[in-house]
This record gives sequence, C-alpha cells and structure tokens, in this order.
Amino acid sequence: MADYDVIIIGGGPGGYVCAIRCAQLGLKTACVEGRDALGGTCLNVGCIPSKALLHASHSLHEAEHNFAKMGLKGKSPSVDWDQMKAYKEDVIGQNTKGIEFLFKKNKVDWIKGWGSIPAAGQVKVGDEVHTAKNIVIATGSEASSLPGIEVDEEMIMTSTGALDLPKVPRKMVVIGAGVIGLEMGSVYARLGSEVTVVEFLDQVTPGMDGEIAKTFQRTLKKQGLKFVMGAAVQSVEKLKTKAKVHYKLRKNDKEDMIEADVVLVATGRRPFTDGLGLDALGVTLSPRGQVATNDHWATNIDGIYAIGDAIDGPMLAHKAEDEGMAVAEVIAGKKGHVNYNVIPGVVYTNPEVAAVGQTEEQLKDAGHAYKVGKFSFMGNGRAKAMFAGEGFVKILVDAETDRILGAHILGPQAGEMIHEICVAMEFGASAQDIALTCHAHPTCSEAVREAALACGDGAIHA
Ligand code: NAI
Repeated sequence: MADYDVIIIGGGPGGYVCAIRCAQLGLKTACVEGRDALGGTCLNVGCIPSKALLHASHSLHEAEHNFAKMGLKGKSPSVDWDQMKAYKEDVIGQNTKGIEFLFKKNKVDWIKGWGSIPAAGQVKVGDEVHTAKNIVIATGSEASSLPGIEVDEEMIMTSTGALDLPKVPRKMVVIGAGVIGLEMGSVYARLGSEVTVVEFLDQVTPGMDGEIAKTFQRTLKKQGLKFVMGAAVQSVEKLKTKAKVHYKLRKNDKEDMIEADVVLVATGRRPFTDGLGLDALGVTLSPRGQVATNDHWATNIDGIYAIGDAIDGPMLAHKAEDEGMAVAEVIAGKKGHVNYNVIPGVVYTNPEVAAVGQTEEQLKDAGHAYKVGKFSFMGNGRAKAMFAGEGFVKILVDAETDRILGAHILGPQAGEMIHEICVAMEFGASAQDIALTCHAHPTCSEAVREAALACGDGAIHA
C-alpha cells in the first residue's frame, strides 16, 4: 500500500492547483514544497508581488499626472519605499496563507522540504521516503542569466532581487525587453528611477503581434523608459558603487557601455529540476532541459508526470494551473484537456497588453487568409474618462469563415478584457458573434465589440 495516490513536487500555481484538484477527485494527496510558504515563484517572488508594486506605482503616476486634471488638488504623495514593500509582503502573505487554508480544507498534506525521486513511486524529503502511486513534477523555473554576468541579487539581480531593493535606484539598466523587464522597468520608472532597457532584438516582447509591440514601446517611451534596441549585452562589470553594462550593437558591431546603480537581468527563465535525481531515474529531458512529456503529461517513466514551467510551452502560471487540473483528471482516470491555442498572455504594465491566439505575423507566415478588425480606445468614452485613450483592440479572423484566430489588446484593463475573446474562441465563435452581443455602455469592452464590428461592415465609433 502506497502512502499516497499522488505526491506533487512543487507548491506553485501548477503544483498546488493540481494537489487541490487531486484531492477533490478523491485521491489521497500530498504536496512537497521547500519554501517557507506555498505558492511558488508566482506568489512569493513573481506575479503577485510585482502586481502589488505595479498597482502602487501606477497609483503614484495617477496622482502625479492625472489628479490635478480631475480637480483633485494638493501635494502629490511621496514614496515611502519601506511601506510599499510592507504592503507587498502583506499581499504575498494573504495569498500564501490562503493556499495553506485550501490545503487544510481539501485534506492535502504539505510535506515541508525539498523532494527528490530516488525511484519510481518514491519521493524522498529530508531523510524520509514517502511512497506514491503517482508523482507529479511541478518544480517550475528559475531565472537564466547570461555568460559573463554574475548575479549577486544586490547590484546585479534577477526579478527576485528587483522586487526587494533596499531603495529606489537612481539609475537602473534592464537587460531584456521581455515581460519581466518591462513590468519591473515600469515600476521603477514610475517611482523615479532612470530606466534603460537593453534588448537584443529590434522589437520588445518577442512573440507579440508586431503592430501592438511597436505602439507598446512608443507608449513606454512616452512614460520615460529608454531603450537600446538590437544590442547584445556582452558582460556586466561590477564596480564599488555602480555597474557597467557592456553591449554590442548588432547592426554594426559597435561596442558601447551604460552605467547603472542596479542591473536587472531579465533574459528568460529555464526549467528548475535540480536535485530531483531525474538523470539517475532516466527521465527524458529535451535539449532545453525541459522534462519531456506526452499529451497526457506523462514522462517516459511509468507513474511520473510533469507540468508547468518544467515542461514545454509558455512559462505562465495559468498554463501551469490548467495542466495541473488536467493531469489530476488523467490520474483519476478521467479525461484531462488543455487547449494550447487559447492561452492568454498579459503584460501588466499600464496600459496593459493582452493577447490570445495567433499574431498577424504568424498568420502571414502560415499563408492563412485573414481579415483584421481594429478599434482605437480614442473612440471609447469610458477609456477617455480614464485618460486611457492610447492603444487599440485588434482582432484577426479567418477571411472565409470569420472565425476568430487571434486577438491583441493594448489598453486599459486589457488583461481582463481578453477573456471575452478567449471564451468566444473556445466556442469557435466568429467576430460577428461578438459584434452581435450587446455590450454594456460605457465600458472599455465596447472596444472589443467595435473591433469585431470592424471585421465585418465596420465599427460605429471609428
Ligand atoms: P522573455 O523571454 O520574455 O524575454 C527575454 C528578453 O531578453 C528577450 O526579448 C530577449 O531577446 C532578450 N535578451 C536575451 N539575451 C539578451 C542579451 N544578451 N542582450 C540583450 N537582450 C537579451 O524573458 P523574461 O522577461 O525574463 O520572462 C521569463 C518568463 O517569465 C517568460 O516566459 C515570461 O512569459 C514569464 N513571465 C510572465 C509574466 C506575465 O505573464 N505577466 C510576468 C513575468 C514573467
């Protein structure tokens, strides 16, 4: 008799969600987590703390730039950085404690410590070996730095250090204009730092629809972020009180340097599977170090599954959560399914950027005949009242059938609005289905309907 039906290694969004669903399906479940709190990178040093700082710094931006316009007069607030960090810690605590409560409620055992898999059916934590019929690897990812750069989390840091700086830096260099670089860069730019983003490619946020990315970068520039594009960072030199970031421009091989008080290295993440003993066990990994799985999240070893950032696909908390629920269903003998064509991606700057499905570039490359419907937030009354007229909604549909293939939003609360399109895509809807759906007025979501109308006979307010 095994101790458990399922042991999940890792208590992040993939792992804890998987554990709760397993327990709900009647499986005896434990989750191994070595951090002091559940929630993984996302809750402790990722999504949640960064959103707290984004909210706080956006509020400051509103006070500085828009309050007086609305007749709200007075001295604009100053930054008490320690208090802002305390607020962030409080938000983290509320969320991680919430998961602990959910574990108790669902009778999931939290095995505290770092787990390894000495053999199929066994999970070792400390000196103790726990047995399980099924094991799910949900160990997430870690920041991957660049050769020539030594991260110390003080002057040269990953997002973890950047969320907990002792003070707001005067000058910050961000290496990489991906999601982390732009979200954290936005926070510090709004708090008064001079932020320069150095990016290898000629476009921000690789993989994003090109037209959206261009407008997004322009918006961020207006907010004060500086960009050095097409620049490959070679090394970071650490001096006593500052760092020098050396880079080479790709177009002419010209070398240059930029100084900073702190450097954020945001050049991607890689699967974290250290210490699990996967090599000895013979678990197949991809050349990129991801745990190889089939379409039921099973590895090549019987009874061992893997989900989330540790396997292929976008490194997103909600993708991991969906896989966590699906693999629980599979283990319980039901049908688990994840629709990888409808996974939204959101950048939580202000304005936000949200996307789902194909980009225009992908459709062009695939030779897919498509139509585009666009609508600017300048034509949306609610957005204008919120000083958020910048940006637009872009919907891509099949030229023949009008079926929605992708949608991209740069604008206020884009990360909330995208879900209307996700649901529509799950139902195989056409743009006309959205266009014929009554949308409440005045809402920012009306811009989605207008973009859908623009795929047909035309938007009304354009
Ligand atoms: P990323 O892969 O999104 O972006 C890394 C950027 O660094 C790329 O634009 C790349 O061209 C650039 N780069 C690489 N080497 C360089 C060099 N030598 N010099 C200059 N630039 C260089 O990675 P990021 O932002 O670190 O995020 C990691 C993961 O975490 C991503 O998969 C992301 O989706 C996820 N994440 C998602 C969030 C969200 O959904 N809101 C928030 C934070 C992270």
